[in-house]
Amino acid sequence: MKKNILVLTGSPRIGGNSDLLADAFIKGANKAGHEVVKCEAGKKKIMGCKACDTCYSKGKPCSFDDDFNSIAPLIEKADAIIFITPLYGFSFSTQLKAVIDKHYSFIIGEKKLNIKESMLLACGGDDDESVFNGIISTYKQIACYQKWTDRGHLIVPGVLNKGDILSTEYLILAEKMGHTI
Ligand SMILES: Cc1cc2nc3c(=O)[nH]c(=O)nc-3n(C[C@H](O)[C@H](O)[C@H](O)COP(=O)(O)O)c2cc1C
Repeated sequence: MKKNILVLTGSPRIGGNSDLLADAFIKGANKAGHEVVKCEAGKKKIMGCKACDTCYSKGKPCSFDDDFNSIAPLIEKADAIIFITPLYGFSFSTQLKAVIDKHYSFIIGEKKLNIKESMLLACGGDDDESVFNGIISTYKQIACYQKWTDRGHLIVPGVLNKGDILSTEYLILAEKMGHTI
């Protein structure tokens, strides 16, 4: 079945390791016939939630002038959401975390989402896989809370510099994940 897949990326680095992961994932998902939108949240200006509780009451998802307002309609349309992020401080990049926090607006604005499935792909500079424990755990809690079926995660350790991922097998794995969702 054809799905509307939203790939939300977290890196501000153009052509970085997570961007390459996202492109590989999208290649696989396109081959499987899905409709895929890539949204580069890490390159946008997204503030932390101010907890004003006025979401959607002023003609826009967030009452502030915030790039989340261009992302919210994409989230509203998606059947599946894929988070692809560099590991920052053992977690999501700040911009991507702000988008995740602002899912709160769909509760306040009483918007019912169609998202049924999610995945996490994350890369980091450290060689030790345990540094991803925090982000995997947070991601799983979010998926469980949102009642999304967790379709799995891929972690990529040991990629610090731009392009390091090119000499690994992880882009092939990301393409396979895109193909199987
Ligand atoms: C602000 C910042 C925080 C980072 N924090 C971590 C970290 O906690 N653990 C880690 O392994 N790598 C960390 N890194 C390294 C990045 O995760 C790594 O370089 C990654 O490949 C960047 O992905 P990108 O090329 O898609 O931007 C950090 C990098 C930056 C710029």
